[in-house]
Amino acid sequence: MISEEFRQAWPFIRDTEGFLPKPDAAFLFKAARELEYKDGVIVEIGAYKGRSAVCLSLATKSYIYSVDTFTDFAGRDGTLFTNNVTNFLTSLNKIKAQNMVTPMIMTSELAREQWDWGVPKPIKLLFIDGNHDYEFVKKDYELWSPLVVPGGWVLFHDYSPDWPGVVKFVDELNIKNLVKFGAVAGFKKE
Ligand SMILES: C[S@@+](CC[C@H](N)C(=O)[O-])C[C@H]1O[C@@H](n2cnc3c(N)ncnc32)[C@H](O)[C@@H]1O
Repeated sequence: MISEEFRQAWPFIRDTEGFLPKPDAAFLFKAARELEYKDGVIVEIGAYKGRSAVCLSLATKSYIYSVDTFTDFAGRDGTLFTNNVTNFLTSLNKIKAQNMVTPMIMTSELAREQWDWGVPKPIKLLFIDGNHDYEFVKKDYELWSPLVVPGGWVLFHDYSPDWPGVVKFVDELNIKNLVKFGAVAGFKKE
């Protein structure tokens, strides 16, 4: 699972603040990497300070769209997290990937609405890592997964007992070919 390329990328990912542990980053990196020569863009819902975007940018030269309201939020225990797009862009600038990543500073719902205003962009990798409550995970999936092309990845982050909303929703999908690694779970669209 851990390739030499990931080994080289990891220090940059690790040094970016965020919520993506090493095994999860390794899986995300591999998933993006294997689709390098497939048409399509990458969309992540939930960007925070750019850890997953840094991981994706180091894995691929494909365009990445990072959807986040970029507003402060409270963690499960009430801890307040500062969240703004300057932090996000600073992280990407450190690895010179700002030109590959477009932040969409809005809710997932609004971003999905605006997605249709431009040139159609097939999605080859969707990483759902926004609000982890059941209703939000469901909404993110229902809004975005229809745009993922056959052979593309639909990935959920935090498929773990700490986040029952994610587990409940993913389990309800009853996906036959569900792949899990770390706290990432997902499947390749047929
Ligand atoms: C778990 S963090 C993302 C972590 C990030 N992927 C990383 O690698 O560190 C969840 C993010 O989702 C964002 N978020 C929550 N609800 C959202 C919504 N409805 N639309 C867009 N972003 C949302 C929050 O602002 C927060 O930055």
